[in-house]
Amino acid sequence: MRIVVLTGAGISAESGVPTFRDADGLWEGHSVDDVATPEGFERDPDLVQRFYDARRRAVASVVPNAAHHALARLERAFGDELLVVTQNVDDLHERAGTRNLVHMHGELQRALCAACGARPVWDADLEPRPPCPVCGERMLRPDVVWFGEMPYDLDRIEDAVVACDVFASIGTSGSVYPAAGYVALASACGAWTVELNLEPSDALIPFDDARAGWAGELVPAWVDELVTARG
Ligand code: OAD
Repeated sequence: MRIVVLTGAGISAESGVPTFRDADGLWEGHSVDDVATPEGFERDPDLVQRFYDARRRAVASVVPNAAHHALARLERAFGDELLVVTQNVDDLHERAGTRNLVHMHGELQRALCAACGARPVWDADLEPRPPCPVCGERMLRPDVVWFGEMPYDLDRIEDAVVACDVFASIGTSGSVYPAAGYVALASACGAWTVELNLEPSDALIPFDDARAGWAGELVPAWVDELVTARG
């Protein structure tokens, strides 16, 4: 049974990572236009670098919660039949043990060199500007996909969504495309669709099974069901 799990900020909320849309469109007091667009970075690169430096440090001080651990358990049961696609830029899925994982919106713990395109693993601050370890230019930015930029690995994700038997959406408001469109694609291709979220999302089509509540409770219970059914 092939499973695709799409995760969003809600799965990391109980670890202490703030979600995006629960704070009036402001993100730690900054507008999305200022800190999550290429134009915002052009206007004030130092502000944007400091913003993501703070996010990177904050994520280093939190730990995965029961929902991340449950998805790692699902991977141990289903192996390569499971693909986790996360919109999150934190590394909590990896730290819980998930390996078959796509970070479609990038990773806080990588830098992206605007000069040579390298994407080195990065756990230090990017302000003041350090040199790129590959080309030496001081043009590193966070490897985070901003509004107006192309998410990563779309072909791989779409192939998996089209082929899956179960599609689950966890902790995402369903308001940012292309991720928000995957439930409709999975459903059109015959998958059973499940939503585990604090509240019903903005999805274009209803899920076959929609459960409202905390990811830290809903996800372990759902994983138990799948693992038990597999026997
Ligand atoms: P949002 O902040 O838009 O949505 C988070 C969802 O999680 C909401 O529907 C909440 O109800 C739900 N939620 C909050 N706490 C929860 C909990 N403890 N358990 C379960 N659900 C909970 O975040 P995303 O959907 O991830 O993109 O946002 C999508 C994208 O928009 C992000 O990846 C980012 C952002 O702008 C980019 O940076 C490109």
